[in-house]
Amino acid sequence: MRKSILFSMPGNSSLASALTVKLSIELGSFELRDFPDGESYVRVLSDVKDKIVTILCTLDHPNDKVLPLLFLARTLRDLGAHHICLIAAYLPYLRQDKRFKTGEALTSNIFASLLSTAIDSLLTFDPHLHRIHKLLEIYPIQSAISLHANLKIAEWIKNTVASPILIGPDEESEQWVSEIATSIGAPYIIAKKTRYGDKEVMLSLPDFNDDGKVPVLIDDIISTGSSMLALLQQLARKGTKKSFCIAVHALFNQAVHQKLLAAGAERVISCNTITHFSNAIDITALLVEPLKSLYIDYGK
Ligand code: R5P
Repeated sequence: MRKSILFSMPGNSSLASALTVKLSIELGSFELRDFPDGESYVRVLSDVKDKIVTILCTLDHPNDKVLPLLFLARTLRDLGAHHICLIAAYLPYLRQDKRFKTGEALTSNIFASLLSTAIDSLLTFDPHLHRIHKLLEIYPIQSAISLHANLKIAEWIKNTVASPILIGPDEESEQWVSEIATSIGAPYIIAKKTRYGDKEVMLSLPDFNDDGKVPVLIDDIISTGSSMLALLQQLARKGTKKSFCIAVHALFNQAVHQKLLAAGAERVISCNTITHFSNAIDITALLVEPLKSLYIDYGK
């Protein structure tokens, strides 16, 4: 079988060290820095010829990360890499998959075709797929695997919250909220959400009896915090116990965190798809088997 090597872009080092140990693969060496004028300099120092190369690069705040990533991936290809797999634990640019107003850029499609010029396969967690059903619809590459953090979130809730009731902020969240609820035998409800702007959402909860249970609010992303905040405000009016807020991908800042705590969150936690102060759920183990299979499939 071909050799594998893993390159870790800045900000991915803890996931990289865990994976190189679990998979016993070499950590690739490269130099990445900015020239004084802000352009990127990339130099690959490891031998990558005929190897299966994995690049770890989560893509929150993507605009600054994508050019260096493309430079690295294209250089690995020039140097003879056999297969290039990108692990973007958070994959951005999935929301603007439709022209809501005339003249808008379809950034989902443009971003996907740009990234696809440099990689052969992609692994990510809980991509925000809405009107697009599969990543391969917009990523013209050999394989695109969507992993789910559900089981790890379920484990965390089971070990931490004695009597939970799970709550999803919108219809889209029902897919993961229902699965997590079933796996831990907890009740769940789903709110109806209408978004009026980046930070303006209206949300209504169905009638429910909380029975003194602890609300656990689950979403794929917390960004401006508006969805969680609207939920917390409804729960405060109902007089429930303090809530836990859980996101797969944490894109929020300290100010949003403070707002959520002030609105009645006991804790706001996330999976480590993005390195963030709220990380409490480790998803590393979920990558191991899919990567082993990928190394077998493309290593022949
Ligand atoms: C929206 O459809 C997503 O699933 C999340 O609910 C949304 O991205 C959360 O964003 P925010 O924290 O800005 O409300």
